[in-house]
This record gives sequence, structure tokens and C-alpha cells, in this order.
Amino acid sequence: MSSAAPVSPPPLPETMTAILISAPGGPEVLVPGTRPVPAPAPGELLVKVEAAGINRPDVMQRKGLYPPPPGASDIPGLEIAGTVVALGEGASRFKVGDRVCALVTGGGYAQYCTTHEATALPIPEGLSAAEAAALPETAFTVWSNIFERGQLKAGETLLLHGGSSGIGTTAIQLAKAFGARVVVTAGSDEKCAACVTLGADLAVNYRTQDFVAEVKSFTAGKGANVILDMIGGPYIQKNYEAAAMDGRIVQIAFQQGAKAEVDFMRLMLKRLTHTGSTLRSRPVEEKAALAAAIVEKVFPLIAAGKYRPVMDETFPLANAADAHARMDASAHVGKIVLTVD
Ligand SMILES: NC(=O)c1ccc[n+]([C@@H]2O[C@H](COP(=O)([O-])OP(=O)(O)OC[C@H]3O[C@@H](n4cnc5c(N)ncnc54)[C@H](OP(=O)(O)O)[C@@H]3O)[C@@H](O)[C@H]2O)c1
Repeated sequence: MSSAAPVSPPPLPETMTAILISAPGGPEVLVPGTRPVPAPAPGELLVKVEAAGINRPDVMQRKGLYPPPPGASDIPGLEIAGTVVALGEGASRFKVGDRVCALVTGGGYAQYCTTHEATALPIPEGLSAAEAAALPETAFTVWSNIFERGQLKAGETLLLHGGSSGIGTTAIQLAKAFGARVVVTAGSDEKCAACVTLGADLAVNYRTQDFVAEVKSFTAGKGANVILDMIGGPYIQKNYEAAAMDGRIVQIAFQQGAKAEVDFMRLMLKRLTHTGSTLRSRPVEEKAALAAAIVEKVFPLIAAGKYRPVMDETFPLANAADAHARMDASAHVGKIVLTVD
């Protein structure tokens, strides 16, 4: 009788391919380069990356407008999926060989990436690596801003700007699954149709329609209870007009500027709450609490077939510039993802 020898994992290479930002600029500044494989710090995991999600903040970073926070990798990429290949001191939530998806502070566009174990999640049953890599940034952002800050409740109306975005396609599904009515804005009839197919009750083409009037009409004059805004600029005043009494407006970006002349009378008379947040710079303890909430509240929706990341297109890691060109063109619906060998 022969006994099989234990299989030990292959030794880790010293270097890896990563996408580097050669200079601030257009998609062409994203170039493959060689970097040392990072070592996991205490409490961290080293993940062999199979896929990495692309997010609009990566575009801002590429342009030099969103520098990585202190201590974060300068390699772009805020979310990954892959296999744990090494554990930092004290890391105990996962073991080598586990497949995880993770929210990371940077470094995702690479063959290997470290993550704090608290912001790693098991890959939900039935999701591919690319789908799992498309999940963390939008799930954390949507849960934090719509359900925690915005306190969206069943029966309320959510106005969601950028309904066909990565964030938007997650938000539509989660808000519907929790019993809200969803109105979205998007920039073409095709994108509006995609949002309705995904579950939106009303999609407003912001290029041809007035979203304030449409929301008022949809809600019999009451307005939206929660507004998720990634546009800013002139939308700030319009959101005050579109909001219901006691409405909550949550700002997650300012694509049209963070400065605006606003008549605050509506805010006072409607008792509005106007808030916002960024995800990347939040302490790991806060992200850990969000991760736990997502496993408890969102993962069952995946199992029940009520939420699945909407995939636009995948590109090989070396073609990150093409993936960014697609996001720059804003032709996408849902998530653009890099696949990594
Ligand atoms: N604060 C945070 O924690 C956080 C975290 C992640 C992402 N974000 C922000 O969330 C936004 C979405 O991120 P993403 O990765 O999902 O990017 P994305 O897919 O590129 O989404 C951007 C969306 O904005 C829409 N848009 C542009 N101008 C618009 C307008 N005037 N009215 C309505 N929609 C408009 C685009 O749709 P059209 O093509 O139809 O115009 C597009 O769908 C980004 O601004 C990003 O910076 C914030």
C-alpha cells in the first residue's frame, strides 16, 4: 500500500506583474511592470489574484486626482478575488487555499495583493472569480451609504443617480430586494432600459428629461425619501427639489463639481439630511463592520437569486488601459473587470 506524500503549495515568486501608473494622464499611462510580491503584514492575507474590479475612483487615481491614502499601495485596484497563498502574523479568519474576494486600499491590478483579513469575504457560492471581484467596492459603498447613512426602508422611494454604473446596478438590486421603490437617472435610453430590466421602477434619461419633475410625478408630489448622488454641482439644488420631507441625500462623488450655489431654504423646510462618505480612507474596524453586515444581509440575497454583480466586460490584466478606455467612454453597464493569470 502506498501513501500519497502531502502536497505543499508551490513557493511564492519574488516578483510579479502589476499595472503601474507611469504618469498622471489617460488610459495609456497604465503600463504592465514588475514589482516585488508584497508580504502580508500582521492581520493580513496575501492573495493570488484571479480577477480585479475596476472602479471610477481608479480613473481619478490614474489622472492624479485621488492619491492613495498613507500606507496604501500605489498600484491601482480597490477590489480583488482569488486564493489565499500566505497569512500575516495573527491572521486567523482564513487559511491558505481559501478563495476570497476583498476590499483593498490599493494594489488590486496585480498578480498578488495583500488585504486585511477583516475586509476579505468568502467568495459566495455560484459566483465566478470575475463576479466576486466585482462585488466588494459596490456592496460596501451601497450598504454604507444607502442603508446605513441613508436609512432606506421598505416602501420608501430611492432616487439613484447613475443607475447603470457599477454602484448603480448593485444599488438597484439591493434596494428592490429590501422593498424600496427605485427611480434612476442614466444618460441614454439603452441604459435606462437596462436599469428597468434590472428592477428599477422608473428610469429617467437625464439628457432628455427633467428628473425633478419625473420623481415628483412618480411619487404623487411627495419626492424621494433617499437620494444617492455621485454628480454634485447643479444636482445639489435639484436633489433638494426632488427630495421628500425628512429626505436623506447621500453624496458619494462630485462628477460635476463639489462647489455649487445652493438655496438652503428647501433643506430647512423639508428637514433634509445631507451627508456623504468615502470608503477607502475609513479605518479597518469600520470596514470590518461593513463586511460583517454584507455577509449577514447581502450574501443571502445572492443565494436567493435576488442580487448578482452585473458584468459589463472583462479584460486581461495587461490590457488595463483598454478597460479604462471603456470606463472613460462611459459605454458600460455594470462592472468592468480585469482577469489575472
Ligand atoms: N464615496 C465612495 O465611497 C465611493 C466608492 C466607490 C465609488 N464612488 C463613486 O461612485 C460613482 C460610481 O462609481 P462606479 O465605479 O460605479 O463608476 P461608473 O460605473 O463609471 O459610474 C459613473 C456613472 O455616472 C453616470 N453619470 C455621469 N453623469 C451623469 C449625470 N449628469 N446624471 C446621472 N448620471 C451621470 C454615468 O452614466 P451615463 O454614462 O449614463 O452618464 C455612469 O453610469 C463614481 O463617481 C465614483 O467615484 C464613491
